[in-house]
Amino acid sequence: MAAPQIALTFKHVGIVFSSEDSAPVIALADATCRFAPGRVTAIIGPSGCGKSTLLQIARGFLQPTRGTLEFVDEAGSKTARPAMSTVWQAFNLFPWLTVIENVTFGLELRGVPRKEREGRARQAIAAVDLTGFERKYPRQLSGGMRQRVGIWSTTIILAG
Ligand SMILES: Nc1ncnc2c1ncn2[C@@H]1O[C@H](COP(=O)(O)OP(=O)(O)OP(=O)(O)O)[C@@H](O)[C@H]1O
Ligand SMILES: [Mg+2]
Repeated sequence: MAAPQIALTFKHVGIVFSSEDSAPVIALADATCRFAPGRVTAIIGPSGCGKSTLLQIARGFLQPTRGTLEFVDEAGSKTARPAMSTVWQAFNLFPWLTVIENVTFGLELRGVPRKEREGRARQAIAAVDLTGFERKYPRQLSGGMRQRVGIWSTTIILAG
């Protein structure tokens, strides 16, 4: 059976993540776009600009703070969200530890004193452009940010 030909339109979709310990994050400000059926569409933009958030909204895993989504069938009628599947980005972090705790974990195991491991971790975090995100948990980062933390949680800094 052929897959249904359903278009997805985003109309002024935005989402703000609020948390108790930090300022609200506008992950998506005002997205208006159409995904035509039967087409391959790429969403391109810098790390952290909101690509994965947009996909999570498309799937219905996140509710937008503003704007609407419309699924439209071949006859031009609005329809329910169709069956969808997603391949997500992979990463390699302990979800219950913050960025800096993930980076210092291996050093701690090796008995490196707290001050030294924190200093080395801060340098490593700066080297991947994540200064300011030390106390965030992996779930609060974009996929690319997680992968950048993952570079340090598994490699060089732990060996030194
Ligand atoms: N659950 C969350 N709570 C708070 N902030 C979040 C959450 N998820 C994402 N963010 C923030 O929203 C912004 C967009 O994240 P998103 O994952 O959509 O980026 P992306 O474009 O997919 O980036 P990448 O190319 O690195 O995967 C980032 O600034 C990120 O820190
Ligand atoms: Mg992403």
